[in-house]
Amino acid sequence: MDTMLHITPSYTSLPDGFSIPADQLHPATTSTVVTLPVIDLSGSRDDVCHAILHAGKEFGFFQVVNHQICEETLREMEAVCDEFFELPVEDKMHLCSDDKSKPNRLFSGSNYKTSSKMYWIDCLRLTHTIRIGDSKNNWPNKPQRLREVFENFIEQTRVLGMELLRMLCKSLGLPLGYFDGDLSGGDMVLGVNLYPPCPEPSRMLGLPPHCDRNLLTLVLSGAVQGMEVFYNGDWIKVEPMPNAFIVNFGLQIEVVTNGILKSVEHRVVTNMSLARTSVLTTINAANDCLLGPAEELLSDSNPPRYRTIMCRDFVRIYTEWLEQCEGDMKHHMKPFKI
Ligand code: OGA
Ligand code: NI
Repeated sequence: MDTMLHITPSYTSLPDGFSIPADQLHPATTSTVVTLPVIDLSGSRDDVCHAILHAGKEFGFFQVVNHQICEETLREMEAVCDEFFELPVEDKMHLCSDDKSKPNRLFSGSNYKTSSKMYWIDCLRLTHTIRIGDSKNNWPNKPQRLREVFENFIEQTRVLGMELLRMLCKSLGLPLGYFDGDLSGGDMVLGVNLYPPCPEPSRMLGLPPHCDRNLLTLVLSGAVQGMEVFYNGDWIKVEPMPNAFIVNFGLQIEVVTNGILKSVEHRVVTNMSLARTSVLTTINAANDCLLGPAEELLSDSNPPRYRTIMCRDFVRIYTEWLEQCEGDMKHHMKPFKI
């Protein structure tokens, strides 16, 4: 990897080779302001369960407040992420890799050379194993408190994520522990996404339109806007709320719920003046677990819409299919449809 975006002092124009298909750049309509549902987790459990299902069906996305993860944890996490990106180059370049099979790495969207697409993002991506502990020993050891703070953040967001899945089960009529065990036993991913100020936001994205390939993603977004969600044929901007988590359902939930919940496309736009940092954690099914529509949700009038396959095959086939379609999301679930 030659360099990363955040290391170069500042760009006055897009570097050579940066270009994005026009259909991905279609701007969000500003005339309709649609806010994502905000779910207050201190409300009555029945109301919260209902709200999660409702928001999931309508948007695939919502924000949660009063989630029991204290502000100190959030501020510490943000501070350590900033400190990480501010480290001298020599303290982080050894982490840089374009090898997607590496569990822990730092990479730049400016180096997605394999697909000839480039995006305005630098990303630290770390893996946390659920089944065998101490994955943090393979994480960066600078800044000094990174491992401890990241581990605490991951553990707390996992508790939140599992609680949201339990409440989803309640509203779907699934056994409460349906997602416990292997279905949520895959490696968790911690992503720290840094989107530096971009000289030409109208020609560049931070992340292309995509669906997450997991069960659930929790995003801690700073105050800077950037995430957009596809809704009713249009892009809508997510207005981040202080201390809230943005929650979205991934493709694995779409399969398990037989399409009752859809994994919704989202993207990240850039801006000229402000860097944006977001932190996300994901809950995933284990590679060696069978992924398919839950029996409890099927009936003669609601037959399975997706094949049941091993999770590792699901992710592999999806990734290969999307590469073949060059990221075009129109038929992205086709390989799994019955
Ligand atoms: C992602 C993602 C959103 C963000 O990494 O999958 O959608 O705000 N990130 O960084
Ligand atoms: Ni995403």
